[in-house]
Amino acid sequence: MRRILVIGIGAGNPDYVTVQAIDAMNRADVFFLPDKGSEKAGLRALRLEILERFVRNPTPRLVDIAVPSRAKSERYLDDVDAWHGALAAAYRAAIEAALPEGGTGALLVWGDPALYDSMIRLVERIEAGGLALACEVIPGISSVQALAAGHRIALNRIGAPVLLTTGRRVAQATPEEDFVVLLDGEETFARAELAEHEVWWGAYLGTPDEVLVTGRAGDVAAEISALRKRLRAAKGWIMDTYLARRHRPD
Ligand SMILES: C[S@@+](CC[C@H](N)C(=O)[O-])C[C@H]1O[C@@H](n2cnc3c(N)ncnc32)[C@H](O)[C@@H]1O
Repeated sequence: MRRILVIGIGAGNPDYVTVQAIDAMNRADVFFLPDKGSEKAGLRALRLEILERFVRNPTPRLVDIAVPSRAKSERYLDDVDAWHGALAAAYRAAIEAALPEGGTGALLVWGDPALYDSMIRLVERIEAGGLALACEVIPGISSVQALAAGHRIALNRIGAPVLLTTGRRVAQATPEEDFVVLLDGEETFARAELAEHEVWWGAYLGTPDEVLVTGRAGDVAAEISALRKRLRAAKGWIMDTYLARRHRPD
């Protein structure tokens, strides 16, 4: 049977790579690397830097996988399902072609594989399609942990929950509880409903370009929005996330 290691590499800083991840990388015969085009070239460079720094196995093979793009219609879940189908087919074809029976392949996942990442589901989908794989998951430091560390805050208030969610969901309804937003294409921190929330925002967390802003959303949203535009234009891509807390008199 082929073995697949789904390895969390941390969300931006090569120092986030754990000893467990290094050991796993050094067991791999083949690394499958997503090729998402020039926009994500910066992210690919970080993956290659990690391999260069930590892999001592002299002969690992790197296999690029062309990532299809997702359709963007009104039917989000259908689009994601079709996209995952195409991705699973691309990964399966690459695994069958490049990884012999008994071989070990590695998939390097940004941050932690359990958080807003489809790689574990893709491996399940490939297995459900009939290709036997033994899968191991190695956790990584997520952008949410990097955000809390950057701002030197605890994520939760004492005894209180924290919701992890997306910009898409927050645009539909503002959560009651404290929440962390990933995948925020909509600049939800600037919504009028959030004006009284306290926000802790960060971009390029863990990298030398890390930027942090905190304050009442109504006061800092314009600054964050301008920063996002300027940084995205300069680097060609941006990754940002934020924690929001409703103001409570206590
Ligand atoms: C597809 S999700 C992947 C999350 C990842 N698995 C993790 O553990 O952080 C991508 C989103 O994570 C957030 N993100 C990931 N890395 C980040 C970073 N270094 N700085 C800020 N946000 C980041 C952004 O909200 C981005 O849109």
